[in-house]
Amino acid sequence: MARRYLVTGGAGYVGSHLVADLLDRGENVVVIDDLRTGHREAVLPGARLIEADIADPAAIGKVLADGPWDAVFHFAAMSIVGDSMREPFRYLIENAMTGIRLIEACVRHQVPRFVLSSTAALFGTPKQMPIAEDCPIDPGSPYGESKAMIERALFWADRIHGLRSACLRYFNAAGADPAGRIGEDHNPETHLIPLVIDAALGRRPELLVFGNDYPAPDGTCIRDYVHVTDLADAHLRALERLETGSVTYNLGNGQGHSVLQVIQAVERVAGRPVPYRVVERRPGDPAVLIASSERVQHEAGWQPRFGEIDSIVRTALAWREAHPNGYGDR
Ligand code: UFG
Repeated sequence: MARRYLVTGGAGYVGSHLVADLLDRGENVVVIDDLRTGHREAVLPGARLIEADIADPAAIGKVLADGPWDAVFHFAAMSIVGDSMREPFRYLIENAMTGIRLIEACVRHQVPRFVLSSTAALFGTPKQMPIAEDCPIDPGSPYGESKAMIERALFWADRIHGLRSACLRYFNAAGADPAGRIGEDHNPETHLIPLVIDAALGRRPELLVFGNDYPAPDGTCIRDYVHVTDLADAHLRALERLETGSVTYNLGNGQGHSVLQVIQAVERVAGRPVPYRVVERRPGDPAVLIASSERVQHEAGWQPRFGEIDSIVRTALAWREAHPNGYGDR
């Protein structure tokens, strides 16, 4: 029998890919999203979209009362590290408080399972690489702090009320639905891969490389890019694991790619040069972030299907070529 899931932020980038996966598996999906940064068109037909702000207690109470729910997946949040350095309280209040209130409402409405879209940003600049789940939490930004606070609230929700949860710390989400139905569309775009692709396609004059004097082999920052469809799959595997207790997983491919290596990958896949210029460092960027995802692989059987950077870039490029203006083309 189909199960019934509520997805907050299901019109956003990672959330919409989870919704697509749930629908492909025949599940019943309700999305709650205020479309501030999400897109109506990103919610595939078959899911019901409720246009509302999850910070509104009446709205969230009404949705949750319309249960029963098998689980809530919580994506709705602001997620730009740099913005959070400029507006710390906005991130701490909107992200953390809203998330904690949502958890409280889930407990009140007897939702049994909760899956949190969390982040590698809660590790700050770790000494240990690759980063395993037991690496100390030491956020380098209010954004990372806001997710750490929600993770702690989930700890207490389980301990006191028995709400089982999965905290999934994504490294750098990238790529697009391999079937080409949905993809990445932020406004403004700040993420590396879509910006490099736009530079290759001549849609922006050049890519600005934020610093080449980092302690890394070619001097540019190293990140662990993980395909958004693989992330979606990890959510469903983590959900199954909740039958035996709450879990925390780091999600990445365990491989780092520098900014220059990403540029080379796009040049290879697109068959076009990428104009770029090295500028100052971007404040708050750690030099290297690479995940150890051994725990989720071992416990939940997660194996990325798009582990190679070229396959991540290929799906992102296909989406961008088909939708040069993102969802604005629809
Ligand atoms: N970069 C550039 N030029 C650009 C954009 C990015 O050189 O125009 C560089 C950045 O300096 C960084 C790398 O490319 O070294 C990746 O930057 P992104 O902005 O794509 O991603 P971040 O690593 O800053 O952050 C992302 C998510 C966060 C999440 C984090 C976890 O946006 O929400 O990954 O690793 F917390």
